Amino acid sequence: MELDLAGDVSGVHRLLTSLVAPRPIGWISTVDTDGVSNLAPYSYFNLVHTNPPVVMFAAEDADDGVKHTPSNVIETGEFVINLVTEAVAGAMDYTARAAPASESEFESADLEKAPAVTVDAPRVAASAAHLECELRDTKRIHGSTLVFGDVRHVHADEELLTEGAVDARKIDAVGRLGGPYFTGISRLSLTRETDY
Ligand SMILES: Cc1cc2nc3c(=O)[nH]c(=O)nc-3n(C[C@H](O)[C@H](O)[C@H](O)COP(=O)(O)O)c2cc1C
Repeated sequence: MELDLAGDVSGVHRLLTSLVAPRPIGWISTVDTDGVSNLAPYSYFNLVHTNPPVVMFAAEDADDGVKHTPSNVIETGEFVINLVTEAVAGAMDYTARAAPASESEFESADLEKAPAVTVDAPRVAASAAHLECELRDTKRIHGSTLVFGDVRHVHADEELLTEGAVDARKIDAVGRLGGPYFTGISRLSLTRETDY
């Protein structure tokens, strides 16, 4: 099959999100200037620099304009990435529903908040790890807002650690596939000689 993307673009979203997969999910909590907290998943999300650490997510505009997450980040300069594991995957999916700005997904999804250390945005208490981030930059590309954040503080639950360090084998992260699908972790026997 050959596809000319300059032609009929119907199905392009499904096609490309199926081929660029699995994608990590940034479950992003923010707070607006009225103090209303917001929570939503973004799978156009990744780590883009490690030292110092920088993450990025891209939010495609909704029909009524810029989504609440990038809008809150631009207003307040901060956000938290909450780790999505199988234990919280259902709640994460629920928080993707479009909701009015006055409604907090923490309440509608019945999720407990935990305070962050360096930002006012709350953490999802049920997530096993969190990255507290400060806005570095934004960029508009077509109808999307790309948000870059400096990671200022990291939380990781004790259950993720082996001898004091986060152990990749203990994190049952959930990834986004195309269509309605998600994936979990199934580690291969292939391993690297070096650990980076
Ligand atoms: C797993 C998952 C990943 C998503 N990834 C994105 C994404 O990368 N970019 C985007 O614009 N919307 C994405 N969405 C849709 C948003 O979560 C949805 O539009 C949400 O209502 C945005 O909420 P907000 O306006 O509170 O930010 C995703 C939804 C799900 C379920």
